[in-house]
Formats: sequence, structure tokens, C-alpha cells
Amino acid sequence: MEFIQVREGLAKILVPKAERIYDAPVFYNPLMALNRDTSVLVLRVLKPEKVLDALSATGVRGIRYALETPAEEVWLNDINEEAFNLILKNLQLNLGAEGKKISERRVTFQEEKRLVANLDDANRLMAEKFRYFDFLDLDPFGSPVEFLDTALRSVKRRGVLAVTATDTGVLCGAYKHACLRKYLAEPIRGELCHEAGLRILIGTVVRYAAKYDLGVEVLLAYYRDHYFRAFLKLSSGARKADKSLARLGYLWQDGNGRSTYEEGFLPEKPGAAGPMWLGPLKDEGFSKELDKELKGFEPAHKKTAEFTRTLIEELDVPFHYDTHALARRNGLEVRKVSVIIERLRERGYSATRTHFSPTAIKTDAPFEEVLEMLRA
Ligand SMILES: C[S@@+](CC[C@H](N)C(=O)[O-])C[C@H]1O[C@@H](n2cnc3c(N)ncnc32)[C@H](O)[C@@H]1O
Repeated sequence: MEFIQVREGLAKILVPKAERIYDAPVFYNPLMALNRDTSVLVLRVLKPEKVLDALSATGVRGIRYALETPAEEVWLNDINEEAFNLILKNLQLNLGAEGKKISERRVTFQEEKRLVANLDDANRLMAEKFRYFDFLDLDPFGSPVEFLDTALRSVKRRGVLAVTATDTGVLCGAYKHACLRKYLAEPIRGELCHEAGLRILIGTVVRYAAKYDLGVEVLLAYYRDHYFRAFLKLSSGARKADKSLARLGYLWQDGNGRSTYEEGFLPEKPGAAGPMWLGPLKDEGFSKELDKELKGFEPAHKKTAEFTRTLIEELDVPFHYDTHALARRNGLEVRKVSVIIERLRERGYSATRTHFSPTAIKTDAPFEEVLEMLRA
């Protein structure tokens, strides 16, 4: 394998030379630096002690967690032997020290922090380390569902589970049957598909967690660059699980773009998308801490600060209006998003931009008022 060395955050990383990222024997996507940046920020706020990067590839994520956050013990695991060997190389490169071989499949580096490189199926490692990690990160190819059960047993009962899903075509309804199979949920097509997809993903974790009497609170969740990301704080107890389950429900959208949603175990009317999470997509207190942390942070990706700010400032109500889709559906002219937001605010409503689309708004104004703004 031929390598090139890249810098990301405080980490130096050897990555395989390849024409296209998916051809490389070990995966590294520079675009995901934004995902890793936001995760570093989250870890700086949460200060977890024991962290697992369960699907580590080059090790970039776990190494950044070790170098840029207060985490004391970080495990970097991959099932692929080439990835494991590269993780070892990258750990040596960044720590300037040799590791101690525990077995053919496990090497520890005990410098200021304890770092462990591990070669195994993530599900087997997570089953071995029962209720061990304070922060557990799942960053798979495609869907995280095959890892959810063991992850929810390996993370502590008040720990945090971070999940990435890159199977956007599935969660956004391009492959409806795959969404039914993997998430047991009906997706929706059209302008709400990304927000609904994110909510289907969170709703799935809530259902998996409930059987272990675990509740789920969303610290932060977003859609970006064709992937979903959610940081989910667990809470322990049957009541907590019931409370989280009660936030699941269904979404309906008519031809004009009017959407309605309703919490409930089963849908009340036909044509529903879901079940999906209808609760908040961020925790307000956590957002404030994140905002403070952002001030002293040097991101690796040039859009991280702007994007994180959009998330922090976004009005947290279920669903949004895409002004272009709304205009098209109702035979109206497109108006500037900033003007619509200003006018809604003048009328006493809350309204902000949303990270889901540059042409969309989040508002607590009723559908007719938003249409009125387009007509005006
Ligand atoms: C998307 S890549 C991870 C990228 C990495 N987290 C980052 O931020 O650059 C997914 C990785 O999961 C590994 N993988 C796939 N199935 C696995 C399994 N069952 N157990 C452990 N690793 C697995 C693959 O070898 C691949 O390296």
C-alpha cells in the first residue's frame, strides 16, 4: 500500500493513495472532517472518560478524540486487517511511541492517555466490553442498524451514543422497501425527506433503546453532505424509555405542501410516514455549551463553524417549509428566504433558516401565513 500524509485537526494521518476514495483499501473521506470536527466539539463539552471509535478505518477519528479532547481512554477498532495495521502506524506517528502487544489483535499505547488499537468485528468487541464506554461512536458504511443492539449494551446506561448513517437513499425514500426492512418505518419523498429521514433514524434508536429500559435525549442531530449524524444521550429506567417512546409519531403531507404530524404508537390516518422521532433535534443547554466551545476551536473543515452556528440558531420545531417547493406546489413566485423570515418575525412569529436546505425556513407560523408571505 502506498500512502500520503494528511493533516486533520491536530492529527497527522497516513492515508492510502487512491484515484477515488471508495477504491482505497482503507477508507478516508476528507469531506467527513466536518463530521469529525463537530464530534470533537461534542466530546470537548461532554468530557467522556472512555471512548470507542468502533469502525475506525485509518484511526483519524479516534486519534483526533485523543489529541483534541479530554477523553482519557480511546479504543480504535476495525474488522479489516489493513485498517488495523494502518491504525497502528498512525498511532505511532502521532504518539512517537511503540505500543505494547497484548495479543495478535490488540495493541495498547499508554502515554498520557490509554489508547487501544483493536482488530475485531465491532459487535464482538462491544459484546466483550459490556457497559464500559461513556461515548460510543458508530460511523459505518451505510446504515448503523446492524450495530445498534450491541452498542446499546456496550455504552454505559447514562452514556452517549453517536451514530452516522450514510444510507440517505434508504432513509429518504428512494429505496422504500430497504427503509421498511432496516428501520421498520415508512419514509417520505420530496422536500421533507431529509428531516423525516433523520427523525426515522433517531426513532429507530429510541425503539432499540426502549427494550433495555433506556430513554434517549437528542443532544444534537443533523443532515449534511449526504449523511445523517445524531448525538444521543441515554437515560436509565423504564419511565425514561416510555417517555422517549411517547415522542414517536407520524407525518402526513398534502399536495400543497401542508404537513401535519401527530405523536402516537400507531398512525390515526392512512398515508403516514414514520414512525419517527417528533421531539427536539437539539438540547438547548448543550447548544449553549457548544457555542462557547466553538469560540476557541480551530476546525479542520472550513465550513464547520458556520454550519454549527446554523444548527445552534435554528428554531427547533418539527419540519420546515422549503420556499421553492411551496412556490412550485402552489403556482406562486419564489421570494427571498431572508425577506420571508423578516416578515414572519414582524408578525410576531419565530422564524429562522434551517440547515436542511438553503431555500427553507423553520417557523411556528401556520401554513396559511407562510403561503401569504409568498403571495405578498
Ligand atoms: C466509513 S468507514 C469509517 C470511517 C472512520 N470512522 C472515519 O471517520 O474516517 C467504516 C469502517 O468500518 C469497518 N467495518 C465494517 N464492518 C465492520 C465490523 N463489523 N466491525 C468492525 N469494523 C467494520 C470498515 O472496514 C471501515 O474501515
